[in-house]
Amino acid sequence: MRGFAVEYDIADQSLAELGGRRIEWAARRMPVLGAIRERFEREQTLAGVTIGACMHVTTETANLMLVLRAGGAAVTLCASNPLSTQDDVAAALVAEGIPVYAIRGEDAGTFYRHIDAVLDTNPDLVFDDGADMTTVLHEARSDQPILGGMEETTTGVIRLRAMASDDVLRFPVVAVNDSDTKHLFDNRHGTGQSSLDGILRASNILFAGKNVVVAGYGDCGLGIAQRADGLGAKVIVVESNPVRALAAAMDGHRVMTTDEAGPLGDVFITATGDIHVFRKQHFDVMKDGVILANAGHFDVEIDLKALSEMAVGYRELRDNLGEYTLEDGRRLLVVAEGRLVNLGAAEGHPADVMDMSFADQALAAEWLKENGASLEPKVYVLPQDLDHEVARLKLESMGGGLEQLTDEQIEYLNSWQHGT
Ligand code: NAI
Repeated sequence: MRGFAVEYDIADQSLAELGGRRIEWAARRMPVLGAIRERFEREQTLAGVTIGACMHVTTETANLMLVLRAGGAAVTLCASNPLSTQDDVAAALVAEGIPVYAIRGEDAGTFYRHIDAVLDTNPDLVFDDGADMTTVLHEARSDQPILGGMEETTTGVIRLRAMASDDVLRFPVVAVNDSDTKHLFDNRHGTGQSSLDGILRASNILFAGKNVVVAGYGDCGLGIAQRADGLGAKVIVVESNPVRALAAAMDGHRVMTTDEAGPLGDVFITATGDIHVFRKQHFDVMKDGVILANAGHFDVEIDLKALSEMAVGYRELRDNLGEYTLEDGRRLLVVAEGRLVNLGAAEGHPADVMDMSFADQALAAEWLKENGASLEPKVYVLPQDLDHEVARLKLESMGGGLEQLTDEQIEYLNSWQHGT
């Protein structure tokens, strides 16, 4: 669409003022990113760099885009999920002069046209969340030169590592997800809290006393289980990895198979990155009125095709709460069409935690700008000193003190001669 200050394709430009206020509120809770912004602005760290981003269009992402632009980059943004776009945020960014191609609820064709629009700007660096843009750059646009990429989420990193092991990855990518200051906080505390927030906004149920089945006990599942436990739910964990299943058991949760959990659960939440975790054989035995939600990246964890085929009726019972009626009269409810529940039915992760993830992203862009040309096409993690710097700044902003080791302690910890 042409006619405004920039080319863009968004739902409603009149929402810009609301989006601007919400972006400002998020910025206040992102002190680490704010400190990076000051330095980037002063040093024009990203001058001359063109950036294409495929990310959830939220208030936090907006702040990352503004930081990159303050650092001198030309930035264009599209959505990394058809249902996560906050249309007011898209409008506010366009009003700021940042081109955005994202409309909440866009169909698959529009989703990919928007990725193309961003790639048409010939970015040097790409920011991805789930590796959809990177995949386009390896299929339809395999000749387009790219200096390097950043990947935000676990599922995206898994896809990139698969490309690297197939020897097809053609530019270096930083697995931002794998920084400790990302996955140990964003995935645990961010997804943990906001996934329950999404279920609550869609259903307004009481968690206390409910059997909540959490599938996957990785960083996201652990966070979800912890928060559900805190609300008084009886948590059941389903895990395929024995160490993580054991960890769940020792954290006080019941651990069982999906078949065993099927008839027991009141709420089912998937966070595995896997396909068809809950499927026909489980729908067959679930109780009337159960709620199903997915926190994993793609909408494949709950087999909605099978559920639709089993259903004799469907209606949208409340906003973001779809009700499938089965032949025997049981009703199964699905939040946000089985897409990322925290982004589809709530606002995604709070800014306080995205502060660290997006500080990592900004530092990764700086690192790739400086080193990208000499790197092999592999998946990299950010150097640990940058990870620690983000943690130090966040702790400082929260008023926490960090112990400094004495020379004697450093010498002791680095020596093997000290014994009994
Ligand atoms: P992870 O790899 O740490 O954990 C996934 C766990 O699921 C693993 O322990 C694995 O053994 C288990 N698992 C896999 N298939 C299973 C199955 N069929 N049944 C039971 N357990 C199974 O991944 P992480 O970081 O927890 O992420 C999970 C998903 O959430 C990914 O798709 C990731 O991209 C997404 N994610 C979503 C966010 C959001 O905002 N909603 C934020 C961050 C990640």
